[in-house]
Amino acid sequence: MDPVRNPFAPGAGSRPPEFAGRDAILNDAEIAIKRALIGKQNRSQMLLGLRGVGKTVLLNKIEEMAENAGHVASFIEAPEGRPLSELLVPKLNHALRKLSLTEQAKAKTHQALRALRSFASAFKLSYGETTLSVDPEVGIADSGDLESDLPDLFIRVGEAAKAAGKAWTLLIDEVQYLRTKDLAALIVALHKISQKELPVLFFGAGLPQVAALSGDAKSYAERLFHYPAVGPLLPDDAKSAIRQPIEDEGESISDDALNEILFQTKCYPYFLQEWGYQCWNIAQGPRIDAADAKQAAEEATRRLDDGFFKVRFDRLTPKEREYVIAMAKLGPGPYRSSDIAEALGETHQSLGPRRSQIISKGMIYSPSHGDIAFTVPMFNDYLIRNFVDRPYRA
Ligand SMILES: Nc1ncnc2c1ncn2[C@@H]1O[C@H](COP(=O)(O)OP(=O)(O)O)[C@@H](O)[C@H]1O
Ligand SMILES: [Mg+2]
Repeated sequence: MDPVRNPFAPGAGSRPPEFAGRDAILNDAEIAIKRALIGKQNRSQMLLGLRGVGKTVLLNKIEEMAENAGHVASFIEAPEGRPLSELLVPKLNHALRKLSLTEQAKAKTHQALRALRSFASAFKLSYGETTLSVDPEVGIADSGDLESDLPDLFIRVGEAAKAAGKAWTLLIDEVQYLRTKDLAALIVALHKISQKELPVLFFGAGLPQVAALSGDAKSYAERLFHYPAVGPLLPDDAKSAIRQPIEDEGESISDDALNEILFQTKCYPYFLQEWGYQCWNIAQGPRIDAADAKQAAEEATRRLDDGFFKVRFDRLTPKEREYVIAMAKLGPGPYRSSDIAEALGETHQSLGPRRSQIISKGMIYSPSHGDIAFTVPMFNDYLIRNFVDRPYRA
């Protein structure tokens, strides 16, 4: 089929050609968005799942829903090691500028901007494109201790949103990369907000370890957050994720081909897009058939090995690589930490620091006490393919 019309070609961002499934999460979000506008409280949502399941795509969709409903939204992607305060200030500045356009919110946004100014100077930060021409407010959000300043700031923003008759939605992606004290402060701020009648919503997304990280940071995080699990798509949704974009282009795909793709990808969204892309380019006939899907596997796997998998593996040190390869040799996982230690001829304790390092890089996590699993679906197959069957690549 004509590669120029390939609907699965990777475009800007990761927006899929057909957004499949996820009805429950989107419905909950829709309700929370509407409730916030009528001043009702909502639990914060933290979407948890492996790499490539569609968390970012969901957060983007929720942001769009919130904005369409009249919220002012701030979307932050947490990079490794950057302070939350630094990420927040320009976004809050922007959100408050938007809120200040509403006449009846002028006074409250002015107050919030003053709090932001205090906050920014306490943390020695710049404000983004526009400077803050307001005076700081002494005693508000200016202690330099994030756990006490962030709640002040969130409350001021919430008050401004309320005065504007709107709501403020904060979305944070890759929450596992927030520094421990930043995550703790975020939880405190959301907790404080939840005790006030303010139209503020929070949606986060991250790797499965975020649940434990949040609980470690503040024990009440468990009650504060709802943790929807984002996993592979249901088979019917996976089929429409592939079939719909093809049919939208006036082409078709056989059921056998779809089943082959579901089998190969285990319905993981990232893999589905990759398989769809390859199948389209390979197909010579009028419809994509099972033989095309089988052939696509080879090309898709090569692309994943050189991209999706490789970028993750490249971030590990030689010792960390040795650890994950030992995991892969034990099968698909989850793995007992003690079994990995045994395979490496070390003790569970001595491997502790190495294990924590790989966890903080977002490569593995602990699904339950003493267990370890990969955060990237089918990563074990990748390691076996490239470093065990063909060890010269290591
Ligand atoms: N609901 C969905 N339907 C179809 N494709 C999806 C869906 N969710 C995600 N994808 C595709 O999967 C890939 C990974 O999505 P992304 O949101 O980046 O995953 P994550 O943030 O969990 O790592 C993207 O190419 C995206 O287009
Ligand atoms: Mg993501």
